[in-house]
Amino acid sequence: MSNGLSSEVRWHEQKVTTQMRAEVMQQRGACIWFTGLSGAGKSTLANALDVALYAAGRKTYLLDGDNVRHGLCRDLGMAEADRAENIRRAGEVAKLMVDAGLIVLCAFISPYRRDRERLRAQFQPGQFVEVHVSTPLDLCEQRDPKGLYSKARQGLISDFTGIDSPYEVPPAPEFVVDTSLEPLDLSIRRLLGACAY
Ligand code: ADX
Repeated sequence: MSNGLSSEVRWHEQKVTTQMRAEVMQQRGACIWFTGLSGAGKSTLANALDVALYAAGRKTYLLDGDNVRHGLCRDLGMAEADRAENIRRAGEVAKLMVDAGLIVLCAFISPYRRDRERLRAQFQPGQFVEVHVSTPLDLCEQRDPKGLYSKARQGLISDFTGIDSPYEVPPAPEFVVDTSLEPLDLSIRRLLGACAY
């Protein structure tokens, strides 16, 4: 696989601009990125925000790590380099959707700071909203909705985030949501403020 751009490949300017798309969509595109441990509540929050935005007539799309790993990223595992590629691909898709004028909600563990910094760098200021779903590990492990923590503790799966793979806490996210401290409807009300343009 080549990772360089052939000199034969040129960027084509598009006649319909981002601004024109925003006007026809009656909204500006944005990427709301949920990061946190497995079981922290990323998908629940992203889904609830999606429902609230849909009800308000906003045009949205939801990209969820588990789902994206069924298709676009089905060839990737959980080692550090695979996770970096997973986040890169998801970020590229999100960028295209934002350019098309959608509010894209992304729920990925995205445990590495460097991958998230790369993501942020590809968006315009204000277009990327990082939400750290900071529910503590012990509670995520108690919830264990897919039984994966139990498997990781038994050594049946490896590279499990929080157990034998790191989670690097975001230093300056736009929002922090601890689902053990804040009711869902209150979190959604706060997050709706980030999509209010
Ligand atoms: S990421 O680290 O690359 O961002 P992503 O969000 O796409 O991860 O996928 C995480 C999902 O994969 C988890 O919700 C869980 O269901 C599943 N999973 C399977 N193996 C692991 C693992 N070793 N660590 C974390 N999640 C895992």
